[in-house]
Amino acid sequence: MAEIQEREQKLIQYLNEAYGKEQELVTALQAHIAMTSRDAYKKRLKEHLKETRAQAKGLERRIKKLGGQAERIDLPGPDAVADAAGKAQATAQKAVAAAKGPLHALRGTGETERMLKNAKTEYADEAEEIANYNAIETLAEAVGDRDTAKLAREFRRQEERMARFLERTIETLTKAVAREEIPAAQRNGGPSRGRASKPKAASKPKAASKPKAASKPKRAAKPKSAARKTSGGRSSAKR
Ligand SMILES: [Fe+2]
Repeated sequence: MAEIQEREQKLIQYLNEAYGKEQELVTALQAHIAMTSRDAYKKRLKEHLKETRAQAKGLERRIKKLGGQAERIDLPGPDAVADAAGKAQATAQKAVAAAKGPLHALRGTGETERMLKNAKTEYADEAEEIANYNAIETLAEAVGDRDTAKLAREFRRQEERMARFLERTIETLTKAVAREEIPAAQRNGGPSRGRASKPKAASKPKAASKPKAASKPKRAAKPKSAARKTSGGRSSAKR
């Protein structure tokens, strides 16, 4: 291509930004899959890895169609990623064991927390991808490139679905962390109802006493004003 116009240049630039992000996420997702022990979460990550790879290919094709060059990032292969993730996990487990004692490691401190941290990172990544595709779709529509707009819309929807899944996963994992790391007596709905009922009983009279105290002056004020009216009614300036 001898000359690429500003319209194509800008589209290629945005597509390449999204392409870079997707390549980065292929690696991140592989690492997270290796660190995930929960089946449903792992399955969804694998699905999204497939989606992410397909998105990268789709972007590559679109960039070429527009006369540009897809910018590849040099990233480690899946085996190296899985290996690095496994080593990082082992190191983290050792660190937890060393810092807090072997009981914490057995209790599960760390693993669920790490999955939760991964889920939060993935959620932030999804937000960036959604922003990328939103910008591409808007730009493509602004310059009348229907094919690019359609591609961006399709990919944005995939990212939005993943983001919604991650929202639920973050909740599930956080609840799991609470169960694993906080004794039942310190959680809502824990078996020690005796402890939970005490603050409730203590808060009820407080809440009930406030309106009473607030209503008393109102009731007291009315008779006073009424008494003034009746007492000075005949000689008041009203009539
Ligand atoms: Fe994604």
